[in-house]
Amino acid sequence: PSDTGRVLSIQSHTVQLENSAGYPTFKGQVLNGEQLWELIEGLEANGLLYYTHLLTGYIGSVSFLNTVLKVVDKLRSVNPKLKFVCDPVMGDEGKLYVPPELVMVYREKVVPVASVLTPNQFEAEQLTGSSITSEKDGQEACNILHAAGPSKVVITSINIDGTLLLIGSHLKEKGQSPEQFKIVIPKIPAYFTGTGDLTTALLLGWSNKYPNDLDKAAELAVSSVQALLLRTLADYQKAGYDCQSSSLEIRLIQSLDDIRNPEVKYRAKRY
Ligand code: ATP
Ligand code: MG
Ligand code: NA
Ligand code: MG
Repeated sequence: PSDTGRVLSIQSHTVQLENSAGYPTFKGQVLNGEQLWELIEGLEANGLLYYTHLLTGYIGSVSFLNTVLKVVDKLRSVNPKLKFVCDPVMGDEGKLYVPPELVMVYREKVVPVASVLTPNQFEAEQLTGSSITSEKDGQEACNILHAAGPSKVVITSINIDGTLLLIGSHLKEKGQSPEQFKIVIPKIPAYFTGTGDLTTALLLGWSNKYPNDLDKAAELAVSSVQALLLRTLADYQKAGYDCQSSSLEIRLIQSLDDIRNPEVKYRAKRY
């Protein structure tokens, strides 16, 4: 397998805001669906529409999400093997942070065309319509999502009694049962911004290198993210900051070595 590729990434980068929406206020502009389509036309005019992967994250409106669906079709008309890695960002910890109409669009139109799906616990519940309170529920949610389309599903975390579990599931052949695993992640008592984006991006990268080994891709992704989060926490603590009080900005640049070359300290356990 080749370890190079071309990724078109559409997510919160389709805004220009002076800070993330996690702050009390934000100013700037948000790209709309027509403006996204103009960019695609520009790429097409220059022969730049060949991508191996489309990565999507936070999308704030139904019209933008519908344009993303048009982009999927367009990119697949150029490269039928395009992998669509979809982080169905809708909410967390029991709360939606997108308009509720988006849920049905994800369920009915987006999930069916996704290759890889990386919901958190709440998003997996929204997409399957069933609550996840155990590992078994998590595995079952993956089965439901496979039946709807994607061959790889990673629930990036479910919270079971204060411990985080990542649950991965790879349906290698239709009609067979998926290979499923968990990675146990000790919960750090702080709240971070950007962990979901980073996890999905790393899963994309490592899955491109190891297309038949989702366990390994997830181990590498989790190990990078954890090294980065521990560095972030230590950094804030050194500055005397109360880490419980608000969300911490992840130390991305300072963690480049851990991102490129993680030491695998978190292991996948097969079910
Ligand atoms: P986001 O809120 O950025 O959208 P998400 O809800 O989509 O994130 P999560 O499953 O919460 O995604 O987090 C992604 C990964 O980040 C997890 O797999 C875990 O490795 C790590 N992570 C996030 N928060 C913590 C934490 N408090 N302690 C340990 N690991 C964490
Ligand atoms: Mg979360
Ligand atoms: Na996620
Ligand atoms: Mg997320």
